[in-house]
Order: sequence, then structure tokens, then C-alpha cells
Amino acid sequence: MSWLFGTGKPTTPGGVPPGSFGGMPPDKPGADGANQIGQPPSGGKMEKYSFDSTALERAAKAAKELEKSAHAKDALQLSKMQEETKQIEQQRKMKESEAYKEQLRIEFARTSEEEKRKTMAEQSKYHKSKAEYEDRLARQRYSDQLAQQARQEEEMRAKNEASIAKQEQMKKSTMDYEYDLRRKNDMARVEAEIKGKAKADRQNHDLIKEQLRIKGQEHRQTVLESIKTAGSVLGAGFQAFISDWDKVTAMAAGLTMVAAGVYSAKYGIGVSARFIEARLGKPSLVRETSRLTVTEALRHPIKTAKRVYAKPDDALKGIILKPELEERLRDIAIATKHTKQNKGFYRNLLMHGPPGTGKTMFAKSLAKHSGMDYAIMTGGDVAPMGKDGVTAMHKTFDWASTSKRGLLLFVDEADAFLRKRKKEHISEDLRATLNAFLYRTGEQSTKFMLVLASNQPEQFDWAINDRLDEMVEFMSPTLDERERLVRRYFDLYCLVPATEKRGRLRLDEFDYGKKCLEIAKMTEGLSGREISKLAVAWQASAYASETGVLTEAMMEECVMNSVRQHAKKVVWHEESAATEMREIGATYSSEKDASTGVSSVKKDPPS
Ligand SMILES: Nc1ncnc2c1ncn2[C@@H]1O[C@H](COP(=O)(O)OP(=O)(O)O)[C@@H](O)[C@H]1O
Ligand SMILES: [Mg+2]
Repeated sequence: MSWLFGTGKPTTPGGVPPGSFGGMPPDKPGADGANQIGQPPSGGKMEKYSFDSTALERAAKAAKELEKSAHAKDALQLSKMQEETKQIEQQRKMKESEAYKEQLRIEFARTSEEEKRKTMAEQSKYHKSKAEYEDRLARQRYSDQLAQQARQEEEMRAKNEASIAKQEQMKKSTMDYEYDLRRKNDMARVEAEIKGKAKADRQNHDLIKEQLRIKGQEHRQTVLESIKTAGSVLGAGFQAFISDWDKVTAMAAGLTMVAAGVYSAKYGIGVSARFIEARLGKPSLVRETSRLTVTEALRHPIKTAKRVYAKPDDALKGIILKPELEERLRDIAIATKHTKQNKGFYRNLLMHGPPGTGKTMFAKSLAKHSGMDYAIMTGGDVAPMGKDGVTAMHKTFDWASTSKRGLLLFVDEADAFLRKRKKEHISEDLRATLNAFLYRTGEQSTKFMLVLASNQPEQFDWAINDRLDEMVEFMSPTLDERERLVRRYFDLYCLVPATEKRGRLRLDEFDYGKKCLEIAKMTEGLSGREISKLAVAWQASAYASETGVLTEAMMEECVMNSVRQHAKKVVWHEESAATEMREIGATYSSEKDASTGVSSVKKDPPS
């Protein structure tokens, strides 16, 4: 520009800078002109190219004029201002573009934020559906486990049933045979007896008849004689009356009938009252019975009907015992059932062992299984009855012998009243009650079966031991039984309510089978009752928790608690046993001293 306005240093005479096409002559391009305007280097081929240089000339001229002009400075100023305006414009555009860039950045951030939010929503949706799926899986697992258990139980039951059926069949055939044989023998004996008696009777008949006739005649004679004597006193009218034999006999018959009527009415009422009393009322010593009373049947007709038509099931259902003991008890159950069917004599049974090992449970189940009625009395109830004990005991046995189905009389905690009569310091009343009990159980019965349960059978009177036909010892459960017990009661009180969604109890996820085994190992020495209570404690702790979910930790805490409590009980028991031993020792030594006449004082050396 400066060259245009003449401010710069001109390099060519014409004021045109070298290399500028403005300085080129119009028709004669210079030797270096070809390089300047992109012409091909071969100058011979430029004929067609025409450049109008007049405009340049005009421009140069105008520039010269402008330089000469007085307004050249203003023009320069204007041009500068124009340049500045252009720069400002340029800057404004740059700023605009920056603002636009900023806007773009913000837009980008917003979009990426939006994307992130969407991704998170998708993720939470995914997690939720995953959790639901896992929950479904867990439930499926519970129900599968239940179904598997049910299948196993069903198989066990089927196996048991098959073995029972087989055993029953064998026993039944043996018993049938025995029964048949016995019946035939009895028949033959009775027949022989009847025949013998009939023969003797026939032989004696005529003799007896003659004797009776003579006796009657003699009697009549005597009566007549005495009446005749009295008649002489009473007068002729009475004489006429008694000489008429028909009148006398009619009178005698009338008087006899009146006497018989009064007598039979008196005794008949007493007997029937006793009969009704024995049949209707439950004796006070009996705590629980399956026998129906009339009032109960009227009050609960549906329950009664159910009980009457209920089919007896396996006597050992739900009772977990050592296989050997289980087999023995099963044999007893089968034998009892057959005894009932064949109306044979029941065998008396003693079950002994530590508390909580299933004695009561089995006795009840046995009664139900054999189709008999059962009545439970407990030994501890007898002593407080005092002198009423004897009557109550007789009433109980009267009532027992009226049962049509046969009655299983179960005496729980039997040692409480069947104690040794000589050694123990028992009251006179209790001794009398025990005697009544012994009297009523002296003979084998076809009406009732006696089942005694005791933790200390060694305290029994010898006469009681004599009445026992079968003794079964119930032991504390070993590891195997404990595992079965834990599983059974965990299922009953925790798993089943959780899967059936009864209440709010839920189970955490863990391997239940493994846990049950672990717990069985931890609970050595605990009885069946303690284990069942432990399962109830699990249930209670789940209900008490906020979520209602039973976790492994909660289970373990309950187990530790039970184990601690059991240990404490053992210590108490040992202490009381030691005291008892000391007391027995003291009694024994004083008795010995008394019998030898040597007192412990005498033994002391003289001071
Ligand atoms: N062998 C067992 N199998 C299953 N449950 C048992 C067993 N032993 C005890 N129990 C549980 O303990 C409870 C009490 O048992 P129970 O028969 O009264 O004991 P016992 O008469 O020997 O003292 C039963 O109701 C049952 O829940
Ligand atoms: Mg009991």
C-alpha cells in the first residue's frame, strides 16, 4: 500500500515494485515475466494470453493524483480507521466464535450428563431385575428342597410300611396259629368238662331229686306241724285258713316277692349308679384321655366323629430314636395291636431313661396306633390325694375296665408313688394307695395295658418290677439322632413357615443341611425336648428381629444359649445327686449301727 501512496522506497524507475505485474509493459513481457505470472517458460506460446494493463496504469495514475491531493493524509487516516474497524470486526467475530465454542462445550456436558443418568437408570433397572431373579431362584430352591424332603420321607415311610407289613404278616400268622391252637385246646377242654359234668349230673340227678323231695316233704311237715300248734292258739278261723294249702302258698309267694322286690331295688340302684359313674365320668387321677364322654361327644360332634373314624398310623411317626430301639418299639406296637385284635392279655411295659427323650410321646402314639383308648395319669398327683387316694385308684381301674376298645393306662413319672414300701419314708395313705394299685394290677388283664415311664426306675417297689413284662431304655440322642432331630424341628418351625409364608418369618441364604449337621455336633448331651425348644427359639428370635429374617448368626447364638443352659442343669443335677448319695450313706450307716447295736458314739475312744 505504501508503495501505492509513495511512502515506501520505490525500487523501479516507474515506482512499481519488482515482480509486480503492474510494472510490466503491456505487450512485451520481460525475460523474468514468465516466472511472475505463471506463464509457461516457453515464451513462444503466449500469443493467446492478453492482459489489460490499462487498469493498472489508471490505478497508478490515480495514486499519483492522490499523492498530490491535499486529502491524501485524510484518506490514509480513513484507510487506517477502516483497517482498525476491520480488526475490531475480526475480534468480535473471534469472540462470537469463542462464545459459540463455549455454548457447544456446555451442550456437550449436558448431553453427557444426560447419558450418564440414563446409564445409571438402566443399571439400577438391571440390578433390580437381577435381585428379583435371584429371589425367584432362592424360592425355587426352597420349594425344591421341600419337595426333595417330602420325597425322601415318602420313601422312608413306604419302606417302613413295607417292613411293618412284612413283620405284621409274620407275627400275625404266628399269632393266628397260636390263637387257633389255644382256641382248639380251650374248646376241647371245655367240651370235655361239660361232658364230664353232664354225665355226673345225670348220674346224680335222680339221687338229688329224691333227696330234694324228701327234704321238701320234711320241711312241709315241719311247717304244718308248727302252724298246727300255733293254730290251736289262734283259733278255729285261722285254722281253717291255714289248712287251705292254696291260700298259704299264695300268701308265702306274695311275701317273698315283696321282700325280693325291696332287696333287688336297693342293690340294683347301687350297682347301676356305680356302673353309670364308672362309665360317664373321668376319674380325678386321669389327666388326659382319648375316651369319649357323653357330654364331650355332644359338645364336639365333629371332633368326636373324626376321632372315631381316624385310621391309626405308624406308632413311631415323628419320633426319632436309635434304629435298634425303634425296631424294638415297633415290635411292641405290633404285638399290642394283635393282642387287642385277638382279645389276649396285655403286656405291661416300662419305659425308663432321661427326661425329654420321647417316652410320653411314644406311649401316646402307641395307644393311638394300636386302636386303643389311652389315659394318662401322673405319679405326682397321687400323694396329695391323701386318704382319698385309695378310692381314686379303685375308681380309675373300674373306669379302665369299662373301656370297649381296651385302655392303655400310662403312668408318667411313675416313681413318684410306686416307691419302695419298706425303705422309703412314705406316708400311710400313700402306702395304702400303692397297695390298691398293686391289688388291681396283680393279674394280667385283657382290659387295660399298663405303661409306666420313669427317670428313676431303681426306686420302684419290688412288687412293681414283678408286674413288668417288657422294659425299654430311652437314651439321650447320639450325633446321628441329633442331626435328624435338628433337621426335623428346623423344618417344622422355620423352613416350612418360611416357604409357606405363614407369618413374617424368612430364612437367610445358607446351606441348611450343613448348618443342621454343625448344630448337631454342637449340641452333645441335649435331649430331644431341648432340641425342639431350640428350634422354637430360632423361630422366636426371627419374629423378634426387625426384618423377620433368620440368619446363621442368630441360630448360632440360640444354640450357644441352649448349650450353656444345659451345662448349668447338668451341674445342678450332679450336685443334687451327690447330696442324695450322702443322705443315703448316712441313713445306711445309722441303720447298720442300730442293727449291730454299735453306735458311732460308742466307737469313739474314751476320753
Ligand atoms: N426321640 C424324639 N423324637 C422326636 N421328638 C422328641 C424326641 N424326644 C423328645 N422329643 C420332643 O420333646 C418333647 C417331649 O418329649 P416327651 O416324650 O414328653 O419326653 P419324656 O416323656 O421322655 O420326658 C416331645 O413332645 C418332642 O417334641
Ligand atoms: Mg414324659
